[in-house]
Amino acid sequence: MKTEFATPAGAKHARMLGVGAYRPRRVVDNAEICRHIDSSDEWIRARTGIVTRRWAAPDETLGAMAEQAASKAIAAAGITPADITCVIAATFTHLMQTPAVATEIAHRIGADGAAGFDISAGCAGFVHGLVLASDSVRARGGHVLVVGVERMSDILDLTDRSTAFIFGDGAGAVVVGPSDTPGIGPAVWGADGSQADAIRQSVPWDTLRTDPGHPFPALRQDGQRVFRWAVYEMSKVAVQALDAAGVAPGELDAFIPHQANERIIDSMTRSMGLPDTVTVAKDIVTSGNTSGASIPLAMDAVLASGAAVSGDTALLLGYGAGLSYAALVATLP
Ligand SMILES: CC(C)(COP(=O)(O)OP(=O)(O)OC[C@H]1O[C@@H](n2cnc3c(N)ncnc32)[C@H](O)[C@@H]1OP(=O)(O)O)[C@@H](O)C(=O)NCCC(=O)NCCS
Repeated sequence: MKTEFATPAGAKHARMLGVGAYRPRRVVDNAEICRHIDSSDEWIRARTGIVTRRWAAPDETLGAMAEQAASKAIAAAGITPADITCVIAATFTHLMQTPAVATEIAHRIGADGAAGFDISAGCAGFVHGLVLASDSVRARGGHVLVVGVERMSDILDLTDRSTAFIFGDGAGAVVVGPSDTPGIGPAVWGADGSQADAIRQSVPWDTLRTDPGHPFPALRQDGQRVFRWAVYEMSKVAVQALDAAGVAPGELDAFIPHQANERIIDSMTRSMGLPDTVTVAKDIVTSGNTSGASIPLAMDAVLASGAAVSGDTALLLGYGAGLSYAALVATLP
């Protein structure tokens, strides 16, 4: 038997080359949310920072939103769809068990032939995808499209006081490709499966078969438990990612965490000792928590506003259902 054979040859380094976003047309304010739950605009703003979020219309499917975001990211990267070798979709609101939405996205953008698969890591999904993309480019070359895309409104129980006001829809995408210089630092990632029930689907899909009258499965969370875990544990993960990259808090240009709650973001910023010179993404105010889409949407927003520029050094931190997390330092596209 032949025991020696060719192995893939990749790039020395990988980096994000372009980013793109799609925000659904419909803006939903807190007053509309409060038609279904006993709450108020003041309470929602004070406890989460959220003023508005976007909810997708029927034609704004996962594939359609991802196509828009991805096409912008590909144009910004200065490549063509044919250059994309793999599409990774981070989502947990694709309501088809199979096939993955990633192959549909590849087809929609004109990257037929590219590999495609979905990953499910809740709100940490996008950074998980970025880790895989970076490792893939360094192992085998090519250009990997990572799309975070969610229709959270499809799995919301509008009468649930602990989730209805938090979540929004949208898509964000980046192209990861070869680079002469390091652009994506070492990932600190992991999970705490003992807290798997802290953010979860209310019942499995097959409940609808055994109990056809059961309400459609919806997202549930233990808000206080998630809040505490995020504030105490995720700040440590953020510091570990900085240490792993050899970057001091004061050397960062931007902090782009998952947009779960403005109070969590502020608490992390304080406990990490980030100076005022660091731009902190606050897309949550107008987007809510868009789960897997939140980090690329927030990245696109800070770049579009001019608060950060291409080439800046940013800390990305995703965390959520699992409970899972992933953090890394990266050069902004
Ligand atoms: C959901 C969340 C905003 C709730 O805020 P909180 O401060 O923890 O709220 P609590 O559940 O402790 O309730 C505090 C009070 O607000 C009330 N309250 C709860 N939900 C409310 C709502 N939607 N509107 C108005 N009042 C509400 C409670 O009844 C309670 O009132 P009381 O003090 O009179 O008993 C917060 O826990 C959170 O953001 N958690 C993290 C969620 C998250 O980020 N999830 C995604 C992770 S990927």
